[in-house]
Amino acid sequence: MKRNDYESYRGIPPLAGLCSMARAVDAAWDLDQSLQRLKRLHYVLKRLHETLTAKITAEPIYELKTAFSHHAYLCAEQVSLIRRRVAEMREPPLGLEVVPAPALERLMDEVIAAPTTPDLLAGMYDVVLPAVLQACDRLATDAHPLADAPTVRVAKLIAFELKDVVAFGVEALACLDDDASRDEREPWTDHLKLCLRAAGQLDGIEATDAPLPDAWHSAQPYQYDKEPRRDERFRDPYNAGVNPEVFLYDEQFSAQDKTLMMYYKRLREIDVPEMMASILVELRDDEPWDFHMEMSRQLWDEARHAMMGEVGFVALGIDWRTIPINFTWSRNLNLQLDARQRHGVLFFIEQNLMPRNGKRYEWEVARESGDPLSALFQDFDWADEVLHAQIGRRWYVPRYQTLNEALDYGDDCWSKVLSHWKTYRDQGLTQHRNWWPEIYAQACEIWGKDPDPRALVFNATYEDTRADLAKLE
Ligand SMILES: [Fe+2]
Ligand SMILES: [Fe+2]
Repeated sequence: MKRNDYESYRGIPPLAGLCSMARAVDAAWDLDQSLQRLKRLHYVLKRLHETLTAKITAEPIYELKTAFSHHAYLCAEQVSLIRRRVAEMREPPLGLEVVPAPALERLMDEVIAAPTTPDLLAGMYDVVLPAVLQACDRLATDAHPLADAPTVRVAKLIAFELKDVVAFGVEALACLDDDASRDEREPWTDHLKLCLRAAGQLDGIEATDAPLPDAWHSAQPYQYDKEPRRDERFRDPYNAGVNPEVFLYDEQFSAQDKTLMMYYKRLREIDVPEMMASILVELRDDEPWDFHMEMSRQLWDEARHAMMGEVGFVALGIDWRTIPINFTWSRNLNLQLDARQRHGVLFFIEQNLMPRNGKRYEWEVARESGDPLSALFQDFDWADEVLHAQIGRRWYVPRYQTLNEALDYGDDCWSKVLSHWKTYRDQGLTQHRNWWPEIYAQACEIWGKDPDPRALVFNATYEDTRADLAKLE
């Protein structure tokens, strides 16, 4: 039988639908090429993950903070996919820590050193990620569809996820950009493209004699900025004049009134990504990849929790910009503790959310409140926090002899943090205004009910009480 006469059973697509027989008989592929291309993708995605994570803390714009949290997580998942595939191909040693091409290193050094937010967006979403997409598309086409089917799958999955990421980035950039800054930036983005050309493109398959481009912005090596910043909608971010936990655990207040405090608590969680990013940056080389993978998932969950709060206020018709969304927790932790201590505080707080009066309680309150959105969000928030407690048990607790020792360390570290409650007030950074009565009265009007007089006079601050209601000295 001649090759071209071959037929499958009654014309059913052959080869499990992977490709045609004509494509399958083409032998132009080998394991080494597959590995080389995967490793280059791995390098760039890992650097993108690092870049996105490192920018979360000091990027003021909330929509970008949350998007960076999401995109960093996606890159982490993709890095893990590639690592698993590489490990299947007769490697160890995996060689995944090796820089695959100096020009790719230069490219990624340049992007993280971008001096402005639009420059960073242009570098990541307009240059690097389109190059990743091109490399994935070419890998999915060039890899042998049968012999190397797992690689084809990885390449297609990554491209599928990243298309939306690129679309977001390009749109966000257009919202912030103007002609003048675009013109000013162009020589630098051309320089980035030159790096890609010198690397033979991201996948290294284009012949090149272009020399390694010089360092431009990266001549001044990038320094992580651990001080959180917020955009101008976050007014009075030093305000710690309302302690929502005191309200939440007080039995005299109604479930419906408590949903308002829970939406606030959720939105305020944007400080967790700001803080967690500092742990990931500072422990970058001290922890294995799986630590970063899991912590990135957790970081992204916390950004989602913040957005749930945002959605809650929008659903109610309350302008959250009139509420001070405090950032002194992430600020104080980032500026006063080291990465291990911060991890201890995070674990201590999250572990304490697990007993009956923690996340389950919030969900029960939400269900009782008659607000289905609050019930939905608290349900998933609880599930996420169970996952986070497990992540902590995998990556934090084993550093200590016992669970209690691990918890005590976190508690101690938290007690060491100076809240600077009075200092911030004395420096004129905030008056710790009690914003609650105003927002509560507004919500009652929306709900069409008379305010509970006891709730209306609620006035508990963080001056001498922590978020876990422990007293400060
Ligand atoms: Fe959370
Ligand atoms: Fe959490």
